[in-house]
Amino acid sequence: MSAEEIRKVAEIILDANFLIALTGAGISAESGIPTFRGKNGLWNKYRPEELATPQAFKRDPIKVWEWYRWRIGLVLKAKPNPGHIALAELEKLGFLKALITQNVDDLHERAGSRRVIKLHGNILEARCINCEYKTKFSEPPREIPPKCPVCSSLLRPNVVWFNEPLPEEALREALSLTYRADAILVVGTSGVVMPAGAIPFTVKERGGVVIEINISESAITPIVDIFLRGPAGKLLPAIIEELRKKY
Ligand code: APR
Repeated sequence: MSAEEIRKVAEIILDANFLIALTGAGISAESGIPTFRGKNGLWNKYRPEELATPQAFKRDPIKVWEWYRWRIGLVLKAKPNPGHIALAELEKLGFLKALITQNVDDLHERAGSRRVIKLHGNILEARCINCEYKTKFSEPPREIPPKCPVCSSLLRPNVVWFNEPLPEEALREALSLTYRADAILVVGTSGVVMPAGAIPFTVKERGGVVIEINISESAITPIVDIFLRGPAGKLLPAIIEELRKKY
């Protein structure tokens, strides 16, 4: 990270009329929540098709719920890190209009971000596979698989699995924000999962500026205007500090 790059990013943020952010698992890595790809990524140890698809859930709901119970426990124990806090600050200072996240944890919300669009759902929520019942976990579910108290069908995690559509409202909002953005901060995503991964490309195509914060290159890096290599928990606070000098 060079002071010059941080200065340039602060300039872009100050000049932007409609800055949005897109985050991925990398921003929660420093809170102890494993990423999916890269070093120690979950998909190096587990097979997504066995744990994160509707077919897997149909085949073995207990195995899927045991994995989600473990991840729910990690999220409930985790704390927002300086990266989450800096993005909430950026919104509070009026620079960040909205934050689109692929993450299913609640760390952006707990850090104080208000306008958070959750493209892939919320791991702390579960919904009935049969009726409208929904619930929110304040602790990992004891009974596996949890059952609906209304109709006794199975509950499922309220997250988007592979081969599933994204929540309509969240997708619609994310797309309208993408079309309004003249700058985007892309933080901690490999950029390989669609449609989230296409968002920075759309901002770029429409003449917007793309800034990426990542510890390594991603599928987005080829099109970014500035690539800040380093941990989000370090780089985002440095950007806030630079903005405070100017602002
Ligand atoms: N700071 C910044 N970036 C980091 C950090 C960090 N401390 N640690 C890891 N990264 C980067 C990695 O280099 C990688 O590019 O975060 C990215 C994490 O990539 P993925 O694990 O693929 O996570 P993500 O891009 O969010 O995955 C998208 O895939 O499995 C699905 O639904 C799941 O939402 C997820 C989607």
